[in-house]
Amino acid sequence: MKSYKILQNAKNLKKLVIAIDGPAASGKSTTSKLIAKRLGYLYVDTGAMYRAMTLKVLQQNISLDQTETIGRLAKRTQIRLDQSDGELKVFLDNRDVTQAIRNQAVTRAVSTVSMIKKVREVMVREQRRMGKRGGIVLEGRDIGTVVFPNADLKIFMVAHVEERARRRQKELKKQGVKVSVEQLVKELVERDRKDSKRDISPLQKAEDAVILDTSKMTLVGQADFVVQKVQEILKKR
Ligand code: DC
Repeated sequence: MKSYKILQNAKNLKKLVIAIDGPAASGKSTTSKLIAKRLGYLYVDTGAMYRAMTLKVLQQNISLDQTETIGRLAKRTQIRLDQSDGELKVFLDNRDVTQAIRNQAVTRAVSTVSMIKKVREVMVREQRRMGKRGGIVLEGRDIGTVVFPNADLKIFMVAHVEERARRRQKELKKQGVKVSVEQLVKELVERDRKDSKRDISPLQKAEDAVILDTSKMTLVGQADFVVQKVQEILKKR
């Protein structure tokens, strides 16, 4: 908390771009949200953008192999992240889809939709636009490698797959969905495989990213780690 105040009170604080990448359920979202709050930065969940696009594809009953149709659709789709009341809300063509993008059908299809070149071009362009003034924490798979290769700080978050599955199980339970840890392990492994093996912007650690293994860390511990890194960067400037 002390470091938080110091950072917020500092004058002429350069607004950094912070890139947080890593596999599914490694703790990126919760940690990024907390860091952004502490620093007074904007928080961008880029996975939510790919999820919103996937929801639209499913709602329009477009087969996932119709890559050209999906690419054209991406250009005509408006995805907006809104943080006005402290909570991140996701709007798809002006409809609130914050809850809907977390459902299992979207989760199972999102890796396939996010492999499509045109979809990625549209999303990356928007992410760069949001981040151009700095003061932003972006989390995803390709932030440090592709979206902001010159980000001021790059973190690559990892955690054991069983731990990630347990975290996902808890989240789903809150939505009233019961899935076994074994099933979730399978789904996470498959999604990581697709995200890491795709041709365009695969999930991979940027050379200059710092690895943060969250398997045994608390949320506050994870945020402290990143805020500490931010302080070290700011001290050098
Ligand atoms: O972070 P998440 O699990 O909500 O992300 C959902 C999917 O979106 C993920 O499996 C791959 C894709 N994604 C991506 O390709 N690039 C990003 N920068 C963020 C997410």
